[in-house]
Amino acid sequence: MSQSVPTSRKPVTLHRLREMHAQGEKIAMITAYDATFARIVDEAGVDCILVGDSLGMLVQGHASTVPVSLDEMVYHTRCVVRGNRTAWVLGDLPFGSYQEGRDQAMRASVALMQAGAHMVKLEGGGWTPEVVHFLTERGVPVCAHLGLTPQSVHALGGYRIQGRDEAGAETLRRHARELAEAGAAMMVLELMPSAVAAQVQADNPGVMTIGIGAGASTAGQVLVMHDMLGFTRGKLPRFVRNFMAEGGTVDDGVRRYVAAVKDGSFPDESVHAY
Ligand code: KIV
Repeated sequence: MSQSVPTSRKPVTLHRLREMHAQGEKIAMITAYDATFARIVDEAGVDCILVGDSLGMLVQGHASTVPVSLDEMVYHTRCVVRGNRTAWVLGDLPFGSYQEGRDQAMRASVALMQAGAHMVKLEGGGWTPEVVHFLTERGVPVCAHLGLTPQSVHALGGYRIQGRDEAGAETLRRHARELAEAGAAMMVLELMPSAVAAQVQADNPGVMTIGIGAGASTAGQVLVMHDMLGFTRGKLPRFVRNFMAEGGTVDDGVRRYVAAVKDGSFPDESVHAY
């Protein structure tokens, strides 16, 4: 299987990610929550590590991401940063840490960035551009998150595909445009039809869209590490591929994931298209 990232790899910066996007190189992102796995995925060559609030389910055993606190995100971000050497690190702003508005969001972002995150991620559209503008103006790189937004699982009525009808797709596209104008450099697009994700990317060419269950047209892909290594129990979404089954070891599984994102063989539209 492909080689680990050379020890000479320079730290991945926002500038470098933008260059990759401009040159059509796909961005490979994965979640990690501790130093050991951060080191493994960094050495396997992922461009970005997301310290996702999915840790609420995968590490803490909750039924959703809703109970995760900012202090817990700070703790896990610190752990990841100690294991990581070169990947770009995103810290997830957890539920309740930014919904009150821009001042609260700024305080929470400061906490994550002082823990070592390079960028923060927040969920939702409509009311979020004002917050994103406030943060980006103050030196906080922001990744938005549209489509299925797990912190709103109770409002959405479950983990459902978003933007399936015309009105839903139009709302997603409008929210994406507003977030791009507000300064979001990156945008996770979760669980939406491939065609909608493709339109969002086309509407906002400068934004790095990162898909998860959103087809192959995005600038990059993200998977939850426990899912793509086959550690998660229960029914997995059909867009997930078990790279550990193909690679045999964690290191090789992650290397295979990076290679498949880069060469465009993951995701396979025929399997993952909605
Ligand atoms: O928390 C997380 O892991 C995420 C991904 C599903 C994108 O937000």
